[in-house]
Amino acid sequence: MQSANQSLFVRTLRREKSKSPPIWLMRQAGRYLPEYRKTREQAGSFLNLCFDPELATEVTLQPIRRYDFDAAIIFADILLIPYALGLNLRFETGEGPVLDPIRSLSAVEAFHGKNVLDVLSPVFETVVRTRRALPADKALIGFAGAPWTVATYMLSGGAMKDPAAWRRKTYEDEIFIQTLIDVLTDLTIEYLRAQANAGADALQIFDSWAGGLPEPVLDAVSVKPLTKICAALKKTHPHVPVILFPKGIGAATQAYAKIEGCAAVGVDYSLTPSWVRENLSPVTVVQGGLDPLLVAVGGPKLEAAVSEILLTYEDVPYVFNLGHGLTPDTPPEHVASLVKQVRGE
Ligand code: CP3
Repeated sequence: MQSANQSLFVRTLRREKSKSPPIWLMRQAGRYLPEYRKTREQAGSFLNLCFDPELATEVTLQPIRRYDFDAAIIFADILLIPYALGLNLRFETGEGPVLDPIRSLSAVEAFHGKNVLDVLSPVFETVVRTRRALPADKALIGFAGAPWTVATYMLSGGAMKDPAAWRRKTYEDEIFIQTLIDVLTDLTIEYLRAQANAGADALQIFDSWAGGLPEPVLDAVSVKPLTKICAALKKTHPHVPVILFPKGIGAATQAYAKIEGCAAVGVDYSLTPSWVRENLSPVTVVQGGLDPLLVAVGGPKLEAAVSEILLTYEDVPYVFNLGHGLTPDTPPEHVASLVKQVRGE
């Protein structure tokens, strides 16, 4: 069995306290970096980039070279599972992802037992190559979308434009929604296990669209499936910590913090550091919270928000990150000064 990674990042997820928190940023590899834009152009399309292990490894490493982050996150996308299921997927500039929507229970049932790992094998090759290229003191994070968030894209054929329609569907056609969630839960377990087998030191699950659901629905489509995924991963990969990032759910984040096998919760920018420190830090390790738009803006407002976070989590293990991904208009030098401030340099 692969031995546990000893990076500052993984040790923090094991609740070890350090002088300065480890730092990485969601969407740290992306369009705000000129070197990313160059490799992306070379690849021709976003999907080509995701499925080319040499180029995907290169963009995964770019932010580590530039900022010396404590962790790299594998360059891929949460929509690669629907793609591997055979849904036509494309990324149009300015429009976001577009994919074939699924409309019927029979379409969902056809996904049962489908082998997605063959199509996704270039991602595992990227994990192997990146782990080989990374220094031992840096961690490599694998990831997937949570079943509900991936389902919203599959149901809507892209970013969810009418959340009320799908919330209504969870009542009207529970079997359809729940079957889709169950299929995605099993595929996500397989996909994350394969990333861990390839060398991922930690795994993060993004539930970007968990917000706005009433508690019983949230429990059925998000908390329960994530509980199942965490339990399955704990069984086969007990030394690979799992981070859950449910976005937009406020105090309900407490339910995720308590999930067995959840090493850390990611928090978005709507929760105050003091509330998070008081209510979540006693239960689990906390990651993130800073509004990415403050990094885009920079200056004294950014510095003040970072100081507040550092002070709030001074006495507990904490992973520095954002409350959502960096935006493409972020000046790279703002990220450099953020890293310096977090490290007390
Ligand atoms: O640096 C990293 O964080 C690693 C790579 C990563 C990407 N997507 C690359 C990407 C990760 C972890 C994701 C996760 C992801 N993808 C999420 C969950 C996190 C979140 O943002 O809420 C979601 C919802 C997606 C789906 C997705 N992929 C959308 C909605 C879009 C279009 C929006 C946009 O930013 O353009 C993507 C495309 C995408 N995924 C880009 C990148 C760098 C931009 C594509 C490009 O270069 O043209």
